[in-house]
Amino acid sequence: MKTLVVCYSNSGTTMIVAEYLAQALTADFDVIEEVKPRPPLLYKGERSKAGGGTFVKAVCAALFGRSSRIAATRKDPSQYDLVLVGTPIWAGSVTPAVRSYLRRHRKQLRRVAFFCTAGMPEKSRAFRQMKRLAGKQPMDTVGVKSDDVRTDACPLIIDGFVKNLKAAGQAEHLASVVAPVTRGETHSE
Ligand SMILES: Cc1cc2nc3c(=O)[nH]c(=O)nc-3n(C[C@H](O)[C@H](O)[C@H](O)COP(=O)(O)O)c2cc1C
Repeated sequence: MKTLVVCYSNSGTTMIVAEYLAQALTADFDVIEEVKPRPPLLYKGERSKAGGGTFVKAVCAALFGRSSRIAATRKDPSQYDLVLVGTPIWAGSVTPAVRSYLRRHRKQLRRVAFFCTAGMPEKSRAFRQMKRLAGKQPMDTVGVKSDDVRTDACPLIIDGFVKNLKAAGQAEHLASVVAPVTRGETHSE
């Protein structure tokens, strides 16, 4: 299954998970960038001074379901069987940049899976939003606590998700091989 991992990350945490997933699934990797990038809003898990008033703006934008202007991504999601979309959680919600990405590419996404990072990943609301924006049920979802991302716990949390996606890919491949045989479509010499 040709797979793309794509994410938005403001302070780098979601990016680490995305890179890990791309490696584990031998997938292509892409990032979602805002046209007007925000300063890093967090530093070592705390509100950063550089963020200033932009932190509150970011919270409000996410809370009120706003999108943001994003740059064109490098990879075309229509070229992939599966696209994993990742977001940090802001105000319990998907970020404006990921909202824009899912809106923009809704029709090009064949299958999706979602991942997020958050201080306290109560991620069901964000994943519901992402499902609605993508217009399809994700194959699987995973949320990682920010504090776990740079620790040994991270691979353990993510491995179940990776295994599920790999198994689904293998099942699909098998079905595509077996179906023509059962329909008598094999070409004997
Ligand atoms: C504006 C803003 C709002 C946030 N809101 C939440 C929240 O509602 N719940 C939560 O658990 N974490 C919240 N966080 C923490 C982030 O989700 C978390 O630190 C995430 O890993 C950051 O990802 P990033 O480094 O890829 O940007 C918030 C962070 C920011 C900057």
